[in-house]
Amino acid sequence: MRLPRDRNDHRIVKAQLVGVDKTFENDGRSVQALSGLSLEVFKNEILCIVGPSGCGKTTAINVLAGFTSPTSGHCLLNGERIAGISPHCGVVFQQESVFPWMCVSKNIAYGLRFNGTPKGERDAIVQRYLTLVGLSDFAHSWPRDLSGGMRKRVDLARAYAANPELLLLDEPFGQLDVLTREEMQTLLLDVWACENKTMLCVTHDPEEAIFLGQRVAVMSPRPGAIVDTFPIPFPMPRDPALKCSPEFQELRRELLSALNRARHNSKAPRTFPCD
Ligand SMILES: Nc1ncnc2c1ncn2[C@@H]1O[C@H](COP(=O)(O)OP(=O)(O)OP(=O)(O)O)[C@@H](O)[C@H]1O
Ligand SMILES: [Mg+2]
Repeated sequence: MRLPRDRNDHRIVKAQLVGVDKTFENDGRSVQALSGLSLEVFKNEILCIVGPSGCGKTTAINVLAGFTSPTSGHCLLNGERIAGISPHCGVVFQQESVFPWMCVSKNIAYGLRFNGTPKGERDAIVQRYLTLVGLSDFAHSWPRDLSGGMRKRVDLARAYAANPELLLLDEPFGQLDVLTREEMQTLLLDVWACENKTMLCVTHDPEEAIFLGQRVAVMSPRPGAIVDTFPIPFPMPRDPALKCSPEFQELRRELLSALNRARHNSKAPRTFPCD
């Protein structure tokens, strides 16, 4: 399939992981999570990473966000080394992370307060994101009074409102039911269409990766490395009906085969509970 010409043709590299290894040492036990992981994220693109559970996807996000440092290798944002927590990266975590002690609008305003955005400007930005994620009527609600899907929208709005250069999403919809998940995928693409942010989205669901991504990178089982990258040729905006098309299903099959190939070529040592 031929890639459509779009803004990604410029291929400006926004963020990069360069030969990243990460080994955790805990209680005399060492776990190698990443091995020589290299990846480029282009400006304004949505790049999805798929990989099996435990292959190091969250670790890769944490290294890129500066939450943990690589054992070797390095990460770049706009060509500059990431050292320590990067104020230019926004993260939507795998677990729900709205602050239960703040109402919806305070949650969304969190990053803006943190970076000293004046109140008038802050209120306008919060209002814009409340509208974008469809929560205008819930600005003063408490998280406990929202559904899981609504709380995820707050997570997304909070990350976006802080205006990060790079948005990192770690299985953002993994805990949602199928219908809410589909709704959130569409919402994510809608918000992206308005804002054009560079996004790196981790998922273990090949269908979600193809629906959201302009490229999909495949990770091997632990220790994780990128073993394949697929360009996704479907133009934006995308409709959920796309998932039923033969082209989409064909790509899904190819991606599943790549994941299976990665599993069988894995360098990971096999461990058994009785070892
Ligand atoms: N802080 C830590 N200390 C020790 N080991 C860790 C730590 N964080 C992650 N690991 C290990 O690193 C490996 C990769 O973990 P990671 O959470 O990155 O995987 P993942 O691909 O995100 O998995 P999942 O799809 O289940 O979320 C796992 O074996 C995990 O046990
Ligand atoms: Mg994870």
